[in-house]
Amino acid sequence: MDKIIIEGAHPLQGEVTIHGAKNAALPIMAASLLLDGELWLKNLPQLSDIKTMVKLLEHLGVEGDLEKGQARLLSKKSKAVEAPYDLVKTMRASVLVLGPLLARRGRAKVSLPGGCAIGERPIDQHLKGFEALGAKVTLEHGYVEVEAKALKGATYTFDVVSVTGTENLIMAASLAKGETILENAACEPEIVDLANLLIACGAKIKGAGTSTVVIEGVQSLQSTEYRIMPDRIEAGTFLIAGAALPGSQVLVKETSVKSLDHLLIKLKEAGAKLKIGEDSIQVTAPKKLKPVDISTAPYPGFATDLQAQWMALMCLAEGSSVIAENIFENRFMHVAELKRMGADIRLDGHTAFVRGVKKLSGAPVMATDLRASASLVIAALAAEGKTEIGRVYHLDRGYELLEKKFRSLGAKIKRVKG
Ligand code: EPZ
Repeated sequence: MDKIIIEGAHPLQGEVTIHGAKNAALPIMAASLLLDGELWLKNLPQLSDIKTMVKLLEHLGVEGDLEKGQARLLSKKSKAVEAPYDLVKTMRASVLVLGPLLARRGRAKVSLPGGCAIGERPIDQHLKGFEALGAKVTLEHGYVEVEAKALKGATYTFDVVSVTGTENLIMAASLAKGETILENAACEPEIVDLANLLIACGAKIKGAGTSTVVIEGVQSLQSTEYRIMPDRIEAGTFLIAGAALPGSQVLVKETSVKSLDHLLIKLKEAGAKLKIGEDSIQVTAPKKLKPVDISTAPYPGFATDLQAQWMALMCLAEGSSVIAENIFENRFMHVAELKRMGADIRLDGHTAFVRGVKKLSGAPVMATDLRASASLVIAALAAEGKTEIGRVYHLDRGYELLEKKFRSLGAKIKRVKG
């Protein structure tokens, strides 16, 4: 397994361009199953999850050509409706084919994704939504099967705000008969990107990005070409890294500024200087970082996908901060690794109490999940001495060429093939 080796305490200087958003690309690729015709996508991030999604779609009868950051996806007539365990177990987002297959082929069978490092990750909200649209749901032998002769629009209120749950229901409802109203829907920008794609294909959707989404079912959806939005989590990761070490100044280009509002407020509170452009943000690290509490919440609250990165920053603040993780039940696995680097963190259930320390010291650490590994990179870049991060395949799921981008900012970072 590859390792990343970092020689820390070199301030970051320069600019990085943000790649397309993984969490917008995945539902949008699944939406190709809804179309009569081909879907041309641009600005796809070159990540392992994107390749896995193409493999899954090909298994379901989609002709997929993925070339660098572009893809052509042509959904052919096919009876295939099953997403097998060996694909789903590597990528939970495979559940996103449920809605399109149900709407287009009347049936879908997907291996239950099972839990992952950060939590149990149930999909009950997705399934209750499909039942509200008239589908029959059965669970057996580790698979979930949904079927319906025809989906009928309905009003459905999520008990729990769910990003992929909202995406699955929007996709299913776009070809249902009549009107569907989703209440307590997730508001993430990636959902707006999916809705914009579907509208470009002829769907009738109002309110995406708010907690009430209204979908008027249509007969069919046509081909289109679409450019994926920038990845706000990659952008946020670089902004936090650029605030961690005095003397750092990083310009993040081609990002959606609006989607980072909450993070920018917190970075300012921590003392970072920000210069906001049309689609760029420059961060200058403060001499002294101030401690700032965060509490993760659905968008527009503080993104759970930036919690681990923020914690790495707070380990270097002058004072104590409190970090509450309210979305996932086990998203503190980076804590043990940060403590190996000298961080002072105490956990109590879903809350981490962080006391800033003068410096972190490099150490051999282990990545456990995608965003935890980003947090270890940030800590290692600021730490004194050498850090070796193992199991970096986690990073490759969400960050394209991360070490190359950090090297271009002056970091002493390299990947060692393992
Ligand atoms: C999406 O996951 C993202 N993944 C996650 O990003 C992100 O962390 C998460 O949303 C929250 O923002 C993709 O978009 C592919 P949820 P998702 O359904 O949709 C509970 C990353 O690092 N829940 O919004 O799976 C669930 O257990 C990944 O890029 C139910 O109880 O998350 C969790 O506690 C990690 N029942 C909470 O809701 C359900 O049916 C939010 O989950 C669904 C969810």
